[in-house]
Amino acid sequence: MQAWVIGNWKQNPATSHDVDLLLNNLLTTIDAKEQANTERSSSRCQLMVAPSCIHLAAVSARLAGSSILSAAQDVSAHSASVGAYTGDCSAQQIADAGATWTILGHSERRQYHSESHDTLLQKVTHALTQGLGVVFCIGETQAQYDDKQTLDVIDTQLSVIKEVITTQPDLISSLSDRLIIAYEPVWAIGTGKVPTVSEVSQTHQHIKQTITGFAESLKVMSVLYGGSVNADNADSFAADPMIDGALVGGASLKVESFLAIANAFSRAKD
Ligand code: PGA
Repeated sequence: MQAWVIGNWKQNPATSHDVDLLLNNLLTTIDAKEQANTERSSSRCQLMVAPSCIHLAAVSARLAGSSILSAAQDVSAHSASVGAYTGDCSAQQIADAGATWTILGHSERRQYHSESHDTLLQKVTHALTQGLGVVFCIGETQAQYDDKQTLDVIDTQLSVIKEVITTQPDLISSLSDRLIIAYEPVWAIGTGKVPTVSEVSQTHQHIKQTITGFAESLKVMSVLYGGSVNADNADSFAADPMIDGALVGGASLKVESFLAIANAFSRAKD
């Protein structure tokens, strides 16, 4: 299975100038490494970056023709296209800006924007019907982890996907290519704390089994791990067959660490 390493830039960098610097550095470093033929081959690890909405069109234009995909970090729950929804960006606008994917259900959206099951159901449906791929984020809080509720929490969060499949059966055939699950324990995001590889592996196995159980024709999905992935721990996650890639926050803002993570997955999934 192809690996995925996705950079979630969140509300970074601060200026479009800094976005240009980061992107130029990323593209020139990849070019140099590929020419020297010493490191990653794009065919083994698909890279994607998710800039903030204001930078999405510029980043997508810069990445057009490169091996890196661009993604939004969210889409409006209210409409696939236009409408009177101040402050929102529709799935159609995201696609028109040049993105082919969107992250949805990130724990920071769930926490700071109270994203509910129904909100996420609308978002996922709008994104998929508009032809966008979806990186759907799930994961438990520290208290839920301590209470050993991880799998219950995940099952509840995955019920959004089950409902999409039930209500939009025509989307099923494209889901294996256009749906990625990112398992991100909330307590591991930006904290430097990580679960053991074996814990992540077991949780990923549960996620894969749960989703393939939603519909007979569904193939196994890619399931990524996210939460304090860095250049030092990437190899251990990449070595596990249940971990198909990484959703990377902080370490994606530095080209060196982002590409080190990508190289770890390229090597492991060779
Ligand atoms: P982190 O963030 O890598 O900085 O922990 C991951 C994420 O929030 O997707």
